Amino acid sequence: MPNKRDFLSVDDLSPAELVGLLDEADEIKARPEAFAERIAGRQVLLIFEKPSTRTRVSFEVAVTSMGGHALVLRSDELQLGRGETIGDTGRVLSGYADAIVLRTFGQDRLELLAEAAAVPVVNALSDFSHPCQALADLQSIREQKGTLEGLALAYLGDGNNVAHSLMFAGAKVGMDVRVASPPGYEPSAQVAERSSLIGAETGGRTTVTNVVAEAASGADVLYTDVWASMGQESQSGERAEILAHYRLDGDAVDLAKEDVIVMHCLPAHRDEEIAAEVLDGPHSVVWDQAANRLHTQKALLAWLLG
Ligand code: CP
Repeated sequence: MPNKRDFLSVDDLSPAELVGLLDEADEIKARPEAFAERIAGRQVLLIFEKPSTRTRVSFEVAVTSMGGHALVLRSDELQLGRGETIGDTGRVLSGYADAIVLRTFGQDRLELLAEAAAVPVVNALSDFSHPCQALADLQSIREQKGTLEGLALAYLGDGNNVAHSLMFAGAKVGMDVRVASPPGYEPSAQVAERSSLIGAETGGRTTVTNVVAEAASGADVLYTDVWASMGQESQSGERAEILAHYRLDGDAVDLAKEDVIVMHCLPAHRDEEIAAEVLDGPHSVVWDQAANRLHTQKALLAWLLG
């Protein structure tokens, strides 16, 4: 595919492209029937090296409800599980499919796949980033608040892949993104530096702190994610102790604006990273946020497949 585009990181998009995708996602959400043939006859391969509920199902439904065909595979069903390289796999699969969506471990695996594949490659989560999640997050925030620019988003907890994508995404649209994590669990310094550079162009701001109040005070959006990501389960006890002070609970909500919205990419662990009464409470938009995965991924596939 000449001039193919990949979506490995939110930073692959210009600010205008990102806002364009959000606008398209709104349009698709409002009039899904108008997009029923948008990728008719196109084949999309979805490969999962880690479990997934939302990403897997929303991508499969996105493809089929726009007239395409989705083939979902686990890596242990492919020769990948027996040592065939990701590059060789990408070269071969490009002969059968129009796009490849991959959930994997290292971001380098996505980069190798994208380099080898002749068709667009989409990051369905890596240890480094979760850009598809960030698209749905921005759509959800804009729906609730009517705007993105200038809003303060406080992310509390582990500075993980979801935090990285939110930092990039917030910077691209001029938000004030504040991440509060315990020492040693902060997001990547390179992501913070790059997000600050992007913000210098867009009016966005990126802050990383160890102090919850510094992030949450006056926030428009409170966000958290699990303390032990996939592959870190053996550290869950130690992480629960270290991160306990960063729980998104009623105290954090009290620090934020009165009309704060509470977000979580899910799956959630009630009364670990988020208090049950907050997840299920009046500020929470997590179910709408999860539903928006469908619309933003439709917009992304429609764009990538042309
Ligand atoms: N938020 C998210 O990516 O959920 P899944 O792991 O279920 O896909």
